[in-house]
Amino acid sequence: MKTIIILGSTGSIGTNTLDIVQRFPEEFRVIGLTAGGNIEKLEEQIRQFKPRAVAVSTEASAIELKRRCTGLPVDIVYGEDGIARVAAMPGAELVISAIVGAAGLVPTLAAIRSGKHIALANKEPMVMAGKLMQEEARKHQVRIFPVDSEHSAIFQSLEGHRLQDVRRLILTASGGALWTLSKEELRDVIPERALQHPNWKMGSKITIDSATLMNKGLEVVEARWLFDIPESRIDVLVHRESIIHSLVEYEDRSMIAQLGLPDMRTPISYAMGYPERMPLDLPSLDLTEIGKLTFSKPDHDRFPCLRLGYESLRIGGTMPAAMNAANEVAVEAFLNGGIRFVEIADVIRSTMDAHAAREIRGLDDALETDRWAREKADALVHALPH
Ligand SMILES: NC(=O)c1ccc[n+]([C@@H]2O[C@H](COP(=O)([O-])OP(=O)(O)OC[C@H]3O[C@@H](n4cnc5c(N)ncnc54)[C@H](OP(=O)(O)O)[C@@H]3O)[C@@H](O)[C@H]2O)c1
Repeated sequence: MKTIIILGSTGSIGTNTLDIVQRFPEEFRVIGLTAGGNIEKLEEQIRQFKPRAVAVSTEASAIELKRRCTGLPVDIVYGEDGIARVAAMPGAELVISAIVGAAGLVPTLAAIRSGKHIALANKEPMVMAGKLMQEEARKHQVRIFPVDSEHSAIFQSLEGHRLQDVRRLILTASGGALWTLSKEELRDVIPERALQHPNWKMGSKITIDSATLMNKGLEVVEARWLFDIPESRIDVLVHRESIIHSLVEYEDRSMIAQLGLPDMRTPISYAMGYPERMPLDLPSLDLTEIGKLTFSKPDHDRFPCLRLGYESLRIGGTMPAAMNAANEVAVEAFLNGGIRFVEIADVIRSTMDAHAAREIRGLDDALETDRWAREKADALVHALPH
């Protein structure tokens, strides 16, 4: 029986994680949950999974949740500090890190520093402070298991092989909702259109990131730190069907890939059960039904965000954190109708141009960069003519 804590339990990854817990009640016990503001869903989860403690973003949410959960044996705390306390509470072996965005950095680091293994879906902290997270993980003898389907595929394709034999990592990209649109058509895309991902049902931020290809840019940075490999040896391949989740090429030119239907419960369960494979009662991949798989190169002209990911790594230090924060601000502005789809890349580009990168020596460098870049990106958003 593994005891677990889920950060971001009300989200897409969080609910998929709880689906696995529900399927394997003998294998997992949930002792802590955290959410942002979806009190209704969190209340349901408390009643079903009976965690010892939960945390929410605001005091108002905590007050409302306490009212709803009167008589239930659960501690309810709030704020960034409360979420970090639940992330670090004693008694858990594994923390599923599934908050969206930079908000996950402090609690994920708190979980690492308290010696818990991490199943990492929340890629933004790795982008902001990957080196620091890996150093802390080593110091506290913590393993970070990837949940992102691409990184899980690479992790699985590396199993039983020597890192020094790896030639390159190849991340596959679906291309997102807008891959077939021309540059002119991209100018007029509305959020509802960009949110229609062809293969995956995910939270809104990552779905927009998939449409801009910034998701792949973030994943290149994530892969750099998860697998300790320079960006010059990480490639991206557009594969619309999302069946091959990623590949590793070895020095003898042999390639090993991991395949499966696009269902996040497979990589989540692998990270949760490692090294065991959970017998998931899901449909099997039928390659005869799929017929053919297609591949193409990324289009940097229509989707410039992927290049920004590589560039942020080449510059290094605080630049990926600045890029990440600008992206979060720009995506939110797009979703709220404040900027055009194509301006997301412009806001990130201009924020990066204005940023003087410096080394990340500790958490404060990442957090301070995040604050600075948010202000800068916000000013850029408001300066755009609308
Ligand atoms: N979804 C996928 O299939 C997928 C695949 C690979 C990687 N990922 C990564 O996994 C992470 C989660 O993605 P998702 O799609 O599950 O996102 P999501 O559906 O939007 O869920 C996000 C979760 O984070 C919570 N949250 C949001 N802002 C917060 C804050 N400021 N403080 C505390 N909690 C906060 C939300 O709480 P409330 O809803 O209660 O407000 C929710 O529980 C992202 O980093 C994403 O890139 C996701």
